[in-house]
Amino acid sequence: MIYMLDTADINAIRKAVDLYPLAGVTTNPSIIAKENRPLKEILLDIRECLGQDKMLHAQVMGKDADTMLKEAQALKALDSNIIVKVPVTPQGIKAIKLLAQEGIRITATAILTPQQALLAAKAGAEFLAPYVNRLDNICSDGVDVAAEIVTLLNNYQLDAKVLGASFKNVQQVHKLALAGAHSVTVAPDVFDLLLTHPLTDSGVAGFVSDWERVYGEGTNVLDAL
Ligand code: E4P
Repeated sequence: MIYMLDTADINAIRKAVDLYPLAGVTTNPSIIAKENRPLKEILLDIRECLGQDKMLHAQVMGKDADTMLKEAQALKALDSNIIVKVPVTPQGIKAIKLLAQEGIRITATAILTPQQALLAAKAGAEFLAPYVNRLDNICSDGVDVAAEIVTLLNNYQLDAKVLGASFKNVQQVHKLALAGAHSVTVAPDVFDLLLTHPLTDSGVAGFVSDWERVYGEGTNVLDAL
């Protein structure tokens, strides 16, 4: 499983890079707009925080393939390791074909159906981002859609990877992992919840109080050896 953080909040990214086995950061236009500062600044700050090895995904906004191509080239000129997100509209699929020919890495985004994903994979996308919670919100089943995409990729032995997106709870992330999704991008609040359990907290608190009764407050193994 490849874990990514779905945010442009530099403090949240710094924290997650420090704590978690994070493979990268995804953004989308809404996430970028929330920061309310120049795009270049945001992307350079995130890259500085991530280092060169981790993935950074940024989305194009053009309405036609030619504009998307120019945006992608400009993003790549800014950050040679960038992965360009392209929505799975007809113009987006055309753009994915053009970008793939140029060797630009692509995440196909705003995926709500398995056929959108299959076409994006055939066009040359590396990651396919189905929107799990947005599907759940309209009484569809986001995990089922993502699982069908995994099946299609296996059936046709395509190299593209499912990048589960739009999560609102841990259960959605977990079900996607069970379905064999290759990667997920999770907002910081839900990411922290992946590790949250009250019995873990009380278990650790119990170890601390038992230990400190014997070895003293604030001590650790180094003090007791
Ligand atoms: C990620 O690539 C998507 O843009 C994102 O996960 C959408 O999430 P939302 O449905 O919470 O906006």
